[in-house]
Amino acid sequence: MPPIYRAKFEKSSPDITQCPTPSIPEFVFIGRSNVGKSSLINMLCNIKGLAKTSGTPGKTQLINHFLIDANWYLVDLPGYGYARTSKVNRAGFKKMIYDYLEKRENLINVFVLIDCRHDPQKIDLEFMEWLASKQIPFSIVFTKLDKLTSSRLNKSLMKYSSVLLEKWESLPPIFRSSAESKTGKEEITSYIQQLTADLGDQIKEQYHNK
Ligand code: GTP
Ligand code: MG
Repeated sequence: MPPIYRAKFEKSSPDITQCPTPSIPEFVFIGRSNVGKSSLINMLCNIKGLAKTSGTPGKTQLINHFLIDANWYLVDLPGYGYARTSKVNRAGFKKMIYDYLEKRENLINVFVLIDCRHDPQKIDLEFMEWLASKQIPFSIVFTKLDKLTSSRLNKSLMKYSSVLLEKWESLPPIFRSSAESKTGKEEITSYIQQLTADLGDQIKEQYHNK
């Protein structure tokens, strides 16, 4: 599979009604605040600063679309589980994300990002349960691999898998990434390109037949 050649920022939207027309396949990155969503997008696209990153959680506030090789969208979402905002804000924010995920018709896959150092957290497990209940396809990306030695990483991922398998019959596709060392770039890009090749025409046709 070829690498990503061209990536450009398209638009920031406050809700699904303002998003770009859903005429090409779309892939979204979501997870807790600070897990590394924006950094992963920059790493995949090879452009520092394309998606805004920050050491302070809560940096990304809107639905951000990036157009990749004129053929598909990568979407950077705000993180969930960010405590430093009012309850009202949090509810509005949740509705914005859930609405978008449930209704966005060209959405092909959700990448749920999990910090590889953390034990399984209720908020992530519940979010994945919700995706499954809505039959929204998703994969898991373990981030910040550079922060663990390979033996601690293996332990951590084994633990995560075993917790998932307590409830689920099988695991979703799992990727490992580091924005620092560019780990996972090939695997994630190829996966997206494969899904685009398989489902892209269907999305375009659906849109044009409307
Ligand atoms: P919000 O937009 O606030 O939800 O955060 P986010 O998930 O987009 O995280 P972001 O990409 O802004 O990264 C948060 C912090 O983690 C920044 O300080 C990044 O430099 C750091 N970071 C992200 N990915 C990695 C990684 O793979 N390795 C290391 N060591 N640090 C990372
Ligand atoms: Mg962000």
